[in-house]
Amino acid sequence: MKVTNIALAGAALGLANATPIVKRGISDADILNYALTLEHLEASFYEEGLKNYTQEDFVKAGMNDPFYANLREVASDEKSHVEFLTSALKAAGASPVAACTYNFPSTDVNSFLALASVLEGVGVSAYLGAAASIMNDTYLTAAGSILTVEARHSAYLRASLGEAPYAQAFDNPLDFNEVFTVASPFIASCPSSNGALPVKAFPALTMSNMDTVMTGTKVNLMAGTGFDASATDINAAFITVTGPVWVPLESMGDGKFTVTVPKGVAGQSYVVLTKGNKTATDDNIVAGPAIVEVGKKGAKGSMMGMGMGNRIGNKNMTMSSSAMPTRASTSSMSGWSSTSATAAASSSPVFNGAKRISGSIFGVVGAGVLAAALM
Ligand SMILES: *[C@@H]1O[C@H](CO)[C@@H](O)[C@H](O)[C@H]1NC(C)=O
Ligand SMILES: *[C@@H]1O[C@H](CO)[C@@H](O)[C@H](O)[C@H]1NC(C)=O
Ligand SMILES: *[C@@H]1O[C@H](CO)[C@@H](O)[C@H](O)[C@H]1NC(C)=O
Ligand SMILES: *[C@@H]1O[C@H](CO)[C@@H](O)[C@H](O)[C@H]1NC(C)=O
Repeated sequence: MKVTNIALAGAALGLANATPIVKRGISDADILNYALTLEHLEASFYEEGLKNYTQEDFVKAGMNDPFYANLREVASDEKSHVEFLTSALKAAGASPVAACTYNFPSTDVNSFLALASVLEGVGVSAYLGAAASIMNDTYLTAAGSILTVEARHSAYLRASLGEAPYAQAFDNPLDFNEVFTVASPFIASCPSSNGALPVKAFPALTMSNMDTVMTGTKVNLMAGTGFDASATDINAAFITVTGPVWVPLESMGDGKFTVTVPKGVAGQSYVVLTKGNKTATDDNIVAGPAIVEVGKKGAKGSMMGMGMGNRIGNKNMTMSSSAMPTRASTSSMSGWSSTSATAAASSSPVFNGAKRISGSIFGVVGAGVLAAALM
């Protein structure tokens, strides 16, 4: 049985004696538990989805074979990641967190797949963002071997949804609290035996555009509970590997803002609100991230609320916005603005404590979409 082998492999890798030495105040055991928290969420999501929707449902939604078999493989991988991390933590003498109960907004195949794609993308960003904090080489390699597989899942699902499988040359890393901010709305409650992780959620930031978002599109954002709507000097940045890309921000009051998607940002992208505009770190993020799918100009199929678009093997399918999950579709069509945002890459090579490569940001992007399912 695959899972058993993986569990054994975890022990055999000798992921024991998690070192007490920490970088940035988070131990390797905490990072593994943080990763396990996300893997539980993903594994439960797929388990629930595969219970909810049959192979026939997927085919009816235009996802032809071998899509269903591949999806089951994705689900199985997430389960293996759970087994592996659980086993590694036990071997290290740490207490692995157990699964929580979840509250997913998806209600049909289309919304399920859209959320699957978003979650895989968040998984990639989470492992990428955590990498610089991992002390032990063995753990780093283990985390890297999960990261690459999450990236394959993400590419497959994105392609299946008619999105660019790899929308840009560099993925966007998210830090612990940023990831927790987008993941926590799905977590209803956790067993009290789960130790508290040293992570917190920022006030939520939700995007309310319904259709294609691309370079120059004005994105409507709304900050949620906990955001101080009277705060001054609020700025907005897209998070990229080279650092925050500051974008023009208009405030409408009441926690409502508009930002313009800058050049050099494509695919599953993240925007945060910050106090000041020097850094975008735990110290000054005041809301978000919001997840914004930025597509290529001229890309086929206009995408909807959750990055839904035309799908591979699905040439005759039309999506309707009623297919969107209710909690996720906070969106309305945004107008295309020809105003190009100034994509000022941060001059600081350090972002959220992790070293980022410096250099110019990416190529020109165009159309696309997606709002997050995160509220
Ligand atoms: C990393 O973890 C492994 C397995 O627990 C251990 O054998 C090794 O000594 C650790 N390395 C460092 C540098 O702490
Ligand atoms: C499974 O179906 C239930 C009932 O419709 C729904 O509440 C839940 O969100 C669905 N889960 C997924 C992962 O789509
Ligand atoms: C940062 O904020 C200052 C003060 O509001 C402003 O002058 C400057 O243009 C901003 N920089 C960027 C990159 O947005
Ligand atoms: C696509 O067309 C085929 C053949 O006409 C049909 O059987 C199938 O139901 C259609 N799929 C959708 C999603 O409309």
